[in-house]
Amino acid sequence: MSEQLAHSAAADVIIETRDVSRLYPGVTALDRVNYRVYRNRVNVLIGENGAGKSTMMKLLAGVESPSSGEILLNGETVTLSSTQQAERHGISIIFQELNLFPNMNVMDNIFIGNEFFQRGVINEKYQYALAKSLLERLELDVDPYAPLGELGIGHQQLVEIARALSKDTQVLLMDEPTSALSQSEVKVLFKVIEQLKRRGVTIIYISHRLEELMEIGDHITIFRDGRFISEREVSDASVPWIIEQMVGDKKKHFDYSPAPQQETVLQVDGLTALHPNGGYRLNDVTFALRKGEVIGIYGLLGAGRTELFKGLIGMLPCQQGRVALHGEDISRLNFQARLKKGIALVPEDRQGEGVVQLMSIKTNMTLSDLSLKGFRRALRPLSPSQEQHNVDDMVRQLAIKVSDSELPITSLSGGNQQKVVLGKALMTGPEVVLLDEPTRGIDVGAKTDVYHLIGKLAHEGLAVMFSSSELDEVMALADRILVMADGRITADLPRAAVTREKLISASTPHD
Ligand SMILES: Nc1ncnc2c1ncn2[C@@H]1O[C@H](COP(=O)(O)OP(=O)(O)OP(=O)(O)O)[C@@H](O)[C@H]1O
Ligand SMILES: [Mg+2]
Repeated sequence: MSEQLAHSAAADVIIETRDVSRLYPGVTALDRVNYRVYRNRVNVLIGENGAGKSTMMKLLAGVESPSSGEILLNGETVTLSSTQQAERHGISIIFQELNLFPNMNVMDNIFIGNEFFQRGVINEKYQYALAKSLLERLELDVDPYAPLGELGIGHQQLVEIARALSKDTQVLLMDEPTSALSQSEVKVLFKVIEQLKRRGVTIIYISHRLEELMEIGDHITIFRDGRFISEREVSDASVPWIIEQMVGDKKKHFDYSPAPQQETVLQVDGLTALHPNGGYRLNDVTFALRKGEVIGIYGLLGAGRTELFKGLIGMLPCQQGRVALHGEDISRLNFQARLKKGIALVPEDRQGEGVVQLMSIKTNMTLSDLSLKGFRRALRPLSPSQEQHNVDDMVRQLAIKVSDSELPITSLSGGNQQKVVLGKALMTGPEVVLLDEPTRGIDVGAKTDVYHLIGKLAHEGLAVMFSSSELDEVMALADRILVMADGRITADLPRAAVTREKLISASTPHD
């Protein structure tokens, strides 16, 4: 940094941490970190899963306290020992894992803990009007009185954002705010960020999506293994430089290597699911999946990818069509029965459907084993030591950063929780595995681990289907790509025939 830049930058630092460490039993989540946040800018923070990003946010938001070191706000040492205290200093946070109440309505979720009172009672009228205007700002067309649980995960995330906007915020911490948003929702969020910046708000923005960071960020900071590594103006940072700073010398590389493709395992014919409000969730979906094959499903959010997976596994009622496994019609079987037959699903929503919060990492992984009761057990009884062996094996293959698999799953970083969900499905010993956005929230380096694992599964003779909204990802990994739009398959392309243009054009809904 030139002397002049160093000088002007110093004046513009709103938050600074000095030698801040945060220790957990067996883990140093942050190690003497000197982190600077610049006033009225979008400060992007990046690093591998488990690098300490969310931990830093929790310290700044008053959710947790540093084990040692100090935090300065506008040059003065502050104690942030509760979220209320942090909010009094104008700091609020949008958590990585949604922090809402599905049984309450949207409006109450926005104002909980931060209600507007008039003569001792909640000013419902005012809150309603404010909620409405906040939702409008986010271009979210939902009734403030709608139960939150009825919203999709993307919309729930926008409600979480509305909640942060309802407060008088000077510094807004956003921990992976876009991981569940569609492209158009991300655009809206970026507009809101620009508005906030114009009003003088400082943003900290965490994401694993490099393109997003380059687009929205002004200043970038990189953490690795609990340490501060470097910082730069985004305009001076290149993607290769960022990746190098993130992973150090642990660079990984993925080479596509197709497995021999054998007989058809899964045959889907004319699968159709009607939408209760009219229209289709799935519209006449037909394809076959072979042993050893990896099919990538590309499509924009809302194209029907999740619905397809749910239809295949028996979680979405389908009015027409047929799903056959090894020629046997399984369309009438429920989810449990299909799981027993050997189809496993790794859901996109790790919070809602993927993990059981209070249980240990190990229990979470072996849970679907247990839920099969006698069945697979009888086929392949597992002794406790075998089970431990399997868990250890999975932890190693997926490079899950964990000090002890007996710890509760909430002690893992977000990306590592996602890996546990993946491990969980694989431990059921499936023949067909369906992975809905398997790399959501996973850092760029660890994505390679997931790709390797998918390749390895195919070579072991599994039939794999995964969805992704990233072009590069489907193109890197799939033997064949199905493109979806409006619940239909709009293209079915062997790897050799795939081009970016074809994928983009097939994924754009027509008429
Ligand atoms: N409550 C806890 N108990 C024990 N360990 C914890 C706890 N919270 C976090 N950790 C550990 O601290 C480290 C840093 O985690 P953190 O959540 O800050 O990572 P992150 O950079 O946000 O990663 P991701 O990109 O996956 O979200 C990880 O090794 C994590 O397992
Ligand atoms: Mg995190």
